[in-house]
Amino acid sequence: MKQLKLTGFVIFFFFLTESLTLPTKPQDIDDVRITKKFIEDNVVYITIIAFAQYIQEASFEEVEMLVKAMKEYRDRCLADMTLPECSKLANDVLLENICAMEGLPQKYNFSHCCHKVDFERRLCFLHNKKAEVGFLPPLPTLDPEEKCQTYKTNKESFLNNYIYEVSRRNPFVFAPTLLTVAARFEEMAETCCEEQEKANCFRSKAEPFIQYLKALSSYQKNVCGALLKFGPQILQSINIAVLSQKFPKIEFKQLTSLLEDISSKYDGCCGGDVVHCIRGRSKVMSHICSKQDSISSKIKECCEKKIPERGECIIYSNKDDRPNDLSPREAKFTESENVCEERDADPETFLAEFLYEYSRRHPELSTPELLRIAGVYEDLLRECCNSQTPPDCYKDAEKKFNETTEKSLKIVQRECEHFQNLGKDDLKYHYLARLTKIAPQLSTDELTFLGKEMMIALATCCTLSEEFACVDNLMDLVLGELCGINKNRSINPTVDHCCKTNFAFRRSCFEGLEADKTYVPLPPSQGLFTFPPDLCQAHNEELQRKKDRFLVNLVKLKPELTEEALRSSLIEFTNVVVKCCQAEGPEACFEEEVLLAILPPIQLVFLVKQKKTQLL
Ligand SMILES: *[C@@H]1O[C@H](CO)[C@@H](O)[C@H](O)[C@H]1NC(C)=O
Ligand SMILES: *[C@@H]1O[C@H](CO)[C@@H](O)[C@H](O)[C@H]1NC(C)=O
Ligand SMILES: *[C@@H]1O[C@H](CO)[C@@H](O)[C@H](O)[C@H]1NC(C)=O
Repeated sequence: MKQLKLTGFVIFFFFLTESLTLPTKPQDIDDVRITKKFIEDNVVYITIIAFAQYIQEASFEEVEMLVKAMKEYRDRCLADMTLPECSKLANDVLLENICAMEGLPQKYNFSHCCHKVDFERRLCFLHNKKAEVGFLPPLPTLDPEEKCQTYKTNKESFLNNYIYEVSRRNPFVFAPTLLTVAARFEEMAETCCEEQEKANCFRSKAEPFIQYLKALSSYQKNVCGALLKFGPQILQSINIAVLSQKFPKIEFKQLTSLLEDISSKYDGCCGGDVVHCIRGRSKVMSHICSKQDSISSKIKECCEKKIPERGECIIYSNKDDRPNDLSPREAKFTESENVCEERDADPETFLAEFLYEYSRRHPELSTPELLRIAGVYEDLLRECCNSQTPPDCYKDAEKKFNETTEKSLKIVQRECEHFQNLGKDDLKYHYLARLTKIAPQLSTDELTFLGKEMMIALATCCTLSEEFACVDNLMDLVLGELCGINKNRSINPTVDHCCKTNFAFRRSCFEGLEADKTYVPLPPSQGLFTFPPDLCQAHNEELQRKKDRFLVNLVKLKPELTEEALRSSLIEFTNVVVKCCQAEGPEACFEEEVLLAILPPIQLVFLVKQKKTQLL
């Protein structure tokens, strides 16, 4: 147990005992103290987030029981730091408490995790998280008046319940992001409940932070998925690319030291350790703010904010301006005589520095594109350094980089043209069909979600001035989601291959995929087209959702159908819905019509036959 005595005050490392390097600057000490206090003060939220993210099925009452236990634990440790339990990792204490809750491990089927200890236990709980939250009901929507009534009667419980509901549906979002969302939610309730037009107020205020949660969640999941599949090296590369673009002024050496803190933060956040995550993030932000002058001119205001807003503000701040004296190219990597010697001396650092120099000069490129270029460079050196005259070989590197970028640009241009030509709906159907053909093993829910996300990516990015980076980044995030976050998913051989072979070239790998050959369509008796009782009540969004599901299910049934045939089936389906919802018995009408109008002839015979046998 580390204890730090300082003139003036003594810091008790409640929740902070883990791997803490001694702070040396007054500013750092202050930040550590503030973070510690923040964690203590937010033990309720932190416990709720961790528990709801680990055991998504748990009820709010069960979460409250754990909150009580953790508050008692905090108070015991604040009173007497020498107790043995106070020197444990906070996350371990939390998991211990979860495992100790009577009947819970059996009820929610996580006993196998409780039988493990330490690292193994943490990992088991992490693997247990479910990315697909279809088993939970949709986020409850209360009437605004009712919402405000509840809020006014019991603020604390209302906010706790909110963060619980959001956390269990977003099991991979980093805790500081959820804490920011909670803070914004509270502000919103505070403001809107005073207004006449409550519903309007909630709607307009909620939209931005729902978008914010979605965007960060998607990014965080992608990075964690990459870390799991490709290890710390890829995390390092992603962060070099992102930070060098954002802070083109930073020196490589300083970047390297910042990256150490960032890696530690991601270890905590991706591993599900909420306390480690908050502390890690806070350390990164202190690091950045304490060296502002040499990092960025765009974060002054952010650094004046408190946690957790400070971090979110920095993440969302604009890219700093490139230094005036930055040459268009770094000669060291393509024009020097001794590139190969330098590489051989320390390949990892050499390539990291290349990525840094390239990224800070190219704010217009996406993260995957920068990683592709780094990959191209690495391959090129491997080849050139084995040749007779390496400098002759690598002098054309720049041309190769440009070719790589042009190839990616073409893909994006094509995608955006597609968007302009088809419009939102048809574009979505295109991606639904395409994704389902590639990965028919995924659930209908997941496929409809992913297809929609692809459409949203293009609708958001095409026509923006940063079109390329925006499309390439966002489309890649969707693939990241498909490839999985906390597990090495096994979907089918070709998809698995694209997911695990090369992070940077994932998108072009998927581009080349055709319909999965290993897939055996479901027999049509599986009830894919049973009449949903609420079909005729469905309007707008809900009807849209049903159409999306219909399309995905149709592809699952008949993967060989062309997009044209699918589109005409979808039109038929829409007509049938209109017609049957006006009929006496919508259900019978629907079954009849689906058989006759929508499903292609071969299918029809099969289905009718089967129906007859069932009827007999
Ligand atoms: C419980 O978890 C184990 C281990 O992950 C799994 O094999 C089993 O199918 C699960 N049982 C239920 C009912 O979900
Ligand atoms: C996933 O696969 C990678 C590489 O094949 C491996 O290093 C990693 O440990 C695996 N992760 C899990 C959770 O199985
Ligand atoms: C590569 O592209 C950049 C930007 O379009 C251009 O300035 C540069 O001259 C190109 N280099 C080569 C070798 O083609």
